[in-house]
Amino acid sequence: MLGKISIIGGLDKDGNPEKVQRLDIAAGEVLAVVGPTGSGKTQLISDIEQYADGETLTGRTILIDEQPMDQGSEDKELRHLVAEVSQNMNFVIDMSIEEFLLMHAQVRAINNPQKTIQKVLTISNELSGEPVFPTDNLTRLSGGQSRALMVADVATISNAPVVLIDEIENAGIDRLKALKILTGQGKIVLLVSHDPTLILMARQRVIMKNGGMDKLYQTTVEEKKILEGLIGQEKHFASLRDHLRSGKRIGMKNENKEEWYRGQSFGTLSAEYQQIPGGNAQGARSEDAGETRDRDSN
Ligand SMILES: Nc1ncnc2c1ncn2[C@@H]1O[C@H](COP(=O)(O)OP(=O)(O)OP(=O)(O)O)[C@@H](O)[C@H]1O
Ligand SMILES: [Mg+2]
Repeated sequence: MLGKISIIGGLDKDGNPEKVQRLDIAAGEVLAVVGPTGSGKTQLISDIEQYADGETLTGRTILIDEQPMDQGSEDKELRHLVAEVSQNMNFVIDMSIEEFLLMHAQVRAINNPQKTIQKVLTISNELSGEPVFPTDNLTRLSGGQSRALMVADVATISNAPVVLIDEIENAGIDRLKALKILTGQGKIVLLVSHDPTLILMARQRVIMKNGGMDKLYQTTVEEKKILEGLIGQEKHFASLRDHLRSGKRIGMKNENKEEWYRGQSFGTLSAEYQQIPGGNAQGARSEDAGETRDRDSN
């Protein structure tokens, strides 16, 4: 069982040593990778994917439980350490979901593959909300269904302890649940993201600048509180979306108004934000904002 991976800093784009010279991520933890376009986020992910040992353009070294990649030897076992979930993934293999999963389970020598396949499908359908069936052909899955199946497969069948995710925000799946499922399996997750909710879900985040790891922050207790508000807001949004997509009307009747306009989540969010100097209760309904102002002036 893999305990942690470490990134030993190399050089930024100007050839200066990276400010962050060492970074460890333990099993079951998420590292968020953030920073502007072109700052080197994808490059960092790719260094890990390649088990860089000073030979990539950043000069970084990746350690697995303190060990560098064996010099010269292309260790095949190591290749199985990393699974990647990418934004534009679609299956091109012409076979049913069941055939594919069975094949994968056999490669991994999994006992009782039927039970495992059932588990993969349950997780996948929980993540995408658009159910797929064992007999469905892989090529006919939507983007969201493909990624949900991929995450479920990585969590259940693949024994890769490291999961790399480059921008999952518009992936059409329940991203928060996906992260929980993966870390719940003791995976190390590296996540490139611009989404505050996902960034704050991580225990730590590295801020990239000019090709280098510039800062490393642990998520603070205060930030975790803001995260709770954001998650509440997301749940509220998801439930609104489900109602709208299934053809329901919202906020038309008085009792609905209570439920949707004055949802607990918006109230919680704006209250949390008020405690942060310079915070901004964006997204709060005017009624809620009013309430918060009243509380504030007391
Ligand atoms: N330390 C470095 N030294 C030299 N080149 C680098 C370094 N880091 C990144 N690069 C190069 O800079 C370019 C931009 O990096 P990268 O694609 O990783 O940015 P990004 O943060 O993922 O951007 P985006 O948000 O647009 O996806 C790439 O060609 C990459 O290989
Ligand atoms: Mg990128």
